[in-house]
Amino acid sequence: MVLVAGKKLLQKAQKGGYAVGAFNISNLETAKAVVSAAVEANAPIFLPLTSGALKYGGFELAGLALAFARKVHVPVAVHLDHGPSFEVARECISFGFSSVMIDGSALPFGGNVSLTKKVVAIAHKKGVSVEAELGQLKGREEAVFSAKHIYTEPSAAARFVKLTGADSLAVAIGTSHGAYKFKGTPMLDFKRLSEIADAVNVPLVLHGASSVPKAIVAAANRYGARLSGARGVPESHIRNAIRLGICKVNVDTDLRIAFTAAVRKALAENRSVFDPRELLSPAIEAVKDVVMRRIKVLGSEGKA
Ligand code: G3H
Ligand code: 13P
Ligand code: ZN
Repeated sequence: MVLVAGKKLLQKAQKGGYAVGAFNISNLETAKAVVSAAVEANAPIFLPLTSGALKYGGFELAGLALAFARKVHVPVAVHLDHGPSFEVARECISFGFSSVMIDGSALPFGGNVSLTKKVVAIAHKKGVSVEAELGQLKGREEAVFSAKHIYTEPSAAARFVKLTGADSLAVAIGTSHGAYKFKGTPMLDFKRLSEIADAVNVPLVLHGASSVPKAIVAAANRYGARLSGARGVPESHIRNAIRLGICKVNVDTDLRIAFTAAVRKALAENRSVFDPRELLSPAIEAVKDVVMRRIKVLGSEGKA
């Protein structure tokens, strides 16, 4: 049984100069793909579920994540991603998650501090780690929409961490969720990131870190998707962010595109097949490939 607190994975990564991948799951197939990649690469991972994933799969899906975590030999943190409220965080902590994110990033500073502090108080009693967020990613973050980037201020981040006792901090440095992150050249504020890393002593987290690989987008488009103009964070930027202090990297969109591209292809090429397992097996493999590749970029291969 290797279900571990998120903090443990991140402190080791911080010392080792690599990042742990957080690969969002939303069904049996994505969970299977992410876990089997982690096992093959001998890498620690976060298995994150958003409240949207919990709505879709119920706590049965969280139970599946916990079952996977307990079965494999690599360390896994079962994690609530973008926890929208104290109540949802509390429910996940009671259910057995080893890590929760409380996302108070849309609240004013004081409101974010008090919400995060409340979650930290109940989480730490049970040895559960807490990720918080300061600053806002442009676009949609779960239920919250921000029309522009609101970059994290280094001195506010230091104050925030001291006041809340959060174990890790998600920062806004120019990434965003989804497949359309940049109109032109991808730009992240690395100067700001290194100032935050100097000011804050907890591990930092990068959300919206999908690279939206051209080959996978092209494969999806070939079989009927319409994803023109999709653009992600180049892998070189991810490596640079890790050098500057990012210890956890969140990826969801790349998995979604790879999954649906494989399903589109399987459906188009196997018109007489109606066994879902046959149509979904290639999707498991496609997601696994993306996760394997990303684990290498993060430097977490062999760090289990
Ligand atoms: O931020 C995390 C996800 O990419 C959005 O997930 O559609 O389950 O809210 P969701
Ligand atoms: P992407 O949309 O870039 O995959 O980001 C996922 C994420 O931040 C999940 O919390
Ligand atoms: Zn996110």
